[in-house]
Amino acid sequence: MTEVSTVQKLSVKLGSIELKNPVIMCSGTFASGMEYNDFYDVSMLGAVTTKSFSLHPCEGNKPPRLCETPAGLLNSIGLQNEGIDFFISQHLPVVKKAGINIILSIVGINSSEFSDIAAKVRKIEEELLAVELNLSCPNVKRGGLTICSVPDDVEEVTAVVRKTLNIPVIVKLSPNNNNLAELAKRAKNGGAEVISLINTLTGMAIDINTFKPKLGNITGGLSGPAVKPVAVAKIYNLHKEKILPIIGMGGIFCWQDAIEFMLAGASAVGLGTVNFSDPEAGKNILEGIFSYLCSRNIARVSDIIGKVNG
Ligand SMILES: Cc1cc2nc3c(=O)[nH]c(=O)nc-3n(C[C@H](O)[C@H](O)[C@H](O)COP(=O)(O)O)c2cc1C
Repeated sequence: MTEVSTVQKLSVKLGSIELKNPVIMCSGTFASGMEYNDFYDVSMLGAVTTKSFSLHPCEGNKPPRLCETPAGLLNSIGLQNEGIDFFISQHLPVVKKAGINIILSIVGINSSEFSDIAAKVRKIEEELLAVELNLSCPNVKRGGLTICSVPDDVEEVTAVVRKTLNIPVIVKLSPNNNNLAELAKRAKNGGAEVISLINTLTGMAIDINTFKPKLGNITGGLSGPAVKPVAVAKIYNLHKEKILPIIGMGGIFCWQDAIEFMLAGASAVGLGTVNFSDPEAGKNILEGIFSYLCSRNIARVSDIIGKVNG
């Protein structure tokens, strides 16, 4: 076996996105990265995906917005954020100075709003690795259906952003849809280079003493280890279709989970909820992946992508 350097061993390519390693932080669980720099050098990560930013600041849903469940977390944050202008003027200069590789997540209610955000992002696009489209926002014109549940909307929104920006476009899909292959094809038609999967699964919890839902929004999104087998199956099935490379996420809590996702077909992995219980998860999981490859004489991490026997 030819000797490869650490850099070659860990690097992965997803479309035209080159990552120095496959470990990415998930949107909404890592802010823009700076807070975790107190625990380890966040610039060692493949990338940090920011919180989803909208055109205007958004207050999010009414509290309570978090509820722990067995092996999971229910959240109904409701995409609270300070708006895209705030990210550009306040967050971006700080994270760039810290050398963090940024994937900017953006969210809108329709293609016109995505287009307006993309026009703002255009001015700073050289400072980003890619843009990720969070399509889980309800579209008012479609009676509240999420954008990612309507194939035409997925293609239209992706195309609008693709037309405005020169950087790679990632489309994040929801496990709440059963037609993921169709949605991924439409994202590809619109110009996406990568699919990110999974966002949270719709869930609910009720307080049996007060008879009230435990979340102010009644339902929320389930994440954490509870969703992991669902995520692995969705990634496995989508990877078999060979549509686009996949960033896989959903309940990754240790390096063994990360390897499992890559065997299922993920070209890179996203860490979300784990950051709340282990702020050093990114560093630990990256080190674990490296040791695994060395101990099994696997030359490159990309050699294991989709290599599940089955
Ligand atoms: C508190 C919280 C906030 C989130 N906010 C966003 C968000 O703003 N945009 C987005 O695309 N996904 C968001 N997500 C979904 C995560 O990025 C990720 O897809 C999901 O939690 C599954 O991964 P995990 O089980 O490792 O957390 C959020 C998840 C949590 C737990």
